[in-house]
Amino acid sequence: AALRDTLLQMPKAELHMHIEGSLEPELIFALAERNKVKLEYASVEELRTAYAFKDLQSFLDIYYAGASVLLTEQDFYDMTRAYLQRAHADNVRHTELFFDPQTHTERGVAFGTVVNGIDRALQDARKEWGLSGALIMCFLRHLSEEEAFATLEQALPYRDKFVGVGLDSSERGHPPEKFARVFARCKELGLRLVAHAGEEGPPDYIRTALDLLKVERIDHGVRCLEDAELTARLARDRVPLTVCPLSNIKLRVFDKVADHNLLKLLDAGLVVTVNSDDPAYFGGYVNDNFLQMFEALPLGREHAYQMARNSFSASFLDAAEKQKYL
Ligand code: HPA
Ligand code: ZN
Repeated sequence: AALRDTLLQMPKAELHMHIEGSLEPELIFALAERNKVKLEYASVEELRTAYAFKDLQSFLDIYYAGASVLLTEQDFYDMTRAYLQRAHADNVRHTELFFDPQTHTERGVAFGTVVNGIDRALQDARKEWGLSGALIMCFLRHLSEEEAFATLEQALPYRDKFVGVGLDSSERGHPPEKFARVFARCKELGLRLVAHAGEEGPPDYIRTALDLLKVERIDHGVRCLEDAELTARLARDRVPLTVCPLSNIKLRVFDKVADHNLLKLLDAGLVVTVNSDDPAYFGGYVNDNFLQMFEALPLGREHAYQMARNSFSASFLDAAEKQKYL
């Protein structure tokens, strides 16, 4: 088969996807209407036009505004269902979804409303398509560690509904060490640990995420190549990087697709995976990320299979489930 068909058809896992970042403008408007929430944009087209970002913060401002239409458990179900349908079409067999409870609890939406709606959609996808899913609760790093602890407290009654915790939102000025104690507590609770690092922030944030937060995967991590010693360590310890190519282009981490360092990361021996991050905002779901990178860079079939294998080996599936895919 053509390489294109291989990319589209190969079974894959997605490990870096913010569920609130899957809200398409059409659904934002539909939910705004259903919930009588006022939007600052007059139309779907006007909202889509606003998706021209200069950096991470300019994206986050619009992303949090979009999430303001989510109020009921059914809203969270509908959002998650729409993503899972797209993932299924891309031959995603397993997905680990980030969610940002603080974005919702701050607006008076109960933690349980958020997690129950998402979880019900995950259960349906498993029954209908054999598509498995797991949730990773993210702490917003622009908020305080105290607020992260309060969120963890609210989450504990739902401990069986998520497998791990992560760290997202504005990276610069909010280094990993700000959350060292709350991550230590999460580790004691048996939660899996990941963190965004080295997206916009310096390679040193990757090092401190490993050393002080004890994370098992680095989300993004593309700036590691600026530090040879760190790169060697990531390769030696087989720390997976959940890379999101189209996100990096839209947020100006790289100027254009051909400038992305995906192939350099692979050549450095790193455990690279390809993911969509916030597909509704960055112009594509996981297969679009694969297609655009393979069009722009000299990547071949072996790279495709390698990254698909990596996506399962780096997942939080248990060993027996992983084995089915490896
Ligand atoms: N980086 C940081 N925070 C985020 C992102 C991202 O790419 N997407 C959603 N929240
Ligand atoms: Zn992300």
